[in-house]
Amino acid sequence: MSSPSPGQIPQHVAIIMDGNGRWAKQRGLPRLEGHRRGVETVRTVVDAAREIGIRTITLYAFSVENWKRPPEEVSGLMGLLDYFLKRELNNLIKNRVRLLTIGRTEELPENVQRELNRVKEATKDFTEWTLVLALNYGSRTEVADAARDYAAAVQAGHEQLTDASWDSFSRYLYTGAAGIPDPDLLIRTSGELRISNFLMLQLAYAEMVFTPVAWPEFGKAELQAAVDEFARRERRFGQTTEQLKPARA
Ligand code: FPP
Repeated sequence: MSSPSPGQIPQHVAIIMDGNGRWAKQRGLPRLEGHRRGVETVRTVVDAAREIGIRTITLYAFSVENWKRPPEEVSGLMGLLDYFLKRELNNLIKNRVRLLTIGRTEELPENVQRELNRVKEATKDFTEWTLVLALNYGSRTEVADAARDYAAAVQAGHEQLTDASWDSFSRYLYTGAAGIPDPDLLIRTSGELRISNFLMLQLAYAEMVFTPVAWPEFGKAELQAAVDEFARRERRFGQTTEQLKPARA
């Protein structure tokens, strides 16, 4: 099959990186080894996304619920994040990739916050490619935070309740505040068919691709296959197939 034309390439792909633990267990390895392999996949996928022409990629790296994992796994993940940020800084600069985050990053360990701020600052002027890490992220928490900030803006007279709309409210979501567009495509690895509190409002019109491949085994071919699948879908945004035809001609 030929590659999708540029118009059919999703501009923003969001990924639930699942299956590190099972991948490790199947090989008799500690769970953290699965996460270590998962970090290697992150670099592969960020590079592959650029090669394919995907402008923004958002990775669900740590959810608000992930704090409930065993303490040694949580600290192992924080250590990997710190390692990743230190190791990738030069690569991101070389490839002109901007780093953004969504989530309550102020609750992350201080060393991780420091590295995040350093990488974000060093890459803030890049506009072509964006890597968004969802860290201490949950959709419900995001909505609660946005509602709080919106209410404060109303109280301060910066917003009028009579103007309340999706457009005005969504600017208070982490994504809206950072200028991140809605994902066109969601990929979840490792066979689970769930959203798991990830970008629930922003995925309203996203296409979804679920693959049985575990995150440590995911690579450019799997990303390309998901993009090809996206290109075969018809996105109607509430309209009919017939209505879309003139626009396509
Ligand atoms: C899900 O696998 C994965 C996570 C909860 C964390 C993902 C983190 C990484 C890939 C490494 C750190 C990320 C960056 C960006 C440096 P799971 O453990 O839930 O797998 P399982 O369902 O098989 O147990």
